[in-house]
Amino acid sequence: MEIRIFETCRQACQAAALVMGAQIVSKPDSILGLATGSTPIPAYQELIRLYQEGIVDFSRVRSFNLDEYVGIPEDHPCSYHRFMRDELFDHVNILKENTHVPSGLSRDLEGDALAYDAAIEAAGGLDIQLLGIGRNGHIGFNEPADVFTPQCHVVELTESTIDANKRFFDSADDVPRRAVSLGVGTIMKAATVLLIATGEDKAEAVRLSVKGEITPRVPASILKAHRHVLFFLDQAAASRL
Ligand code: F6R
Repeated sequence: MEIRIFETCRQACQAAALVMGAQIVSKPDSILGLATGSTPIPAYQELIRLYQEGIVDFSRVRSFNLDEYVGIPEDHPCSYHRFMRDELFDHVNILKENTHVPSGLSRDLEGDALAYDAAIEAAGGLDIQLLGIGRNGHIGFNEPADVFTPQCHVVELTESTIDANKRFFDSADDVPRRAVSLGVGTIMKAATVLLIATGEDKAEAVRLSVKGEITPRVPASILKAHRHVLFFLDQAAASRL
């Protein structure tokens, strides 16, 4: 586990964009695992800048997102399909057919989730998986549980996650109760995992993930067992290390 602590959130995210950008420059047909949420937005802005300056070319990149809410349309302002278009895909030259986000609308959610894993496998696996972290230590929507779930699956969101994500919706009642998420097995198979954590409210989850034992009660703790994992933190998120 390599931990880098930056003074500001912006620096942590810019550094993460450099790692993602370097991955694409060194392997133009990279398979990226992408995350949503507030944390990676400055990293996506920096990647867009690197594209606009002609440094990073997304034309051969393929991407697979971590997760999606169940039951909201793809063009809903809070859907992760929409987030990715607004924050990255519409601003770079990635081909729409090369971008993948789990379906939260399928009539066979579990079957589609397994097909999503198979598509990642068929593409050759993830070269790099970008992650944020929940205040409860979740990665993707792998919530604290008694066991780790390896495969892509349907998740019941915890009250902590619903509370954290209600800021994007009109009210907590509007936050979907379920989501589809990559499992920890697929995340752990990525060649590189790059987790960004910024802000004081992530400090305890970061501490437990880095210093605590590996346990499904703190899903991000499993990353300690990964052969190439980078934690890019700002000072606030690193304050309890
Ligand atoms: C998003 C995701 C989540 C978020 C986490 C942190 O695709 O998988 O694990 O990374 O909930 O969210 P923010 O960045 O909004 O604090």
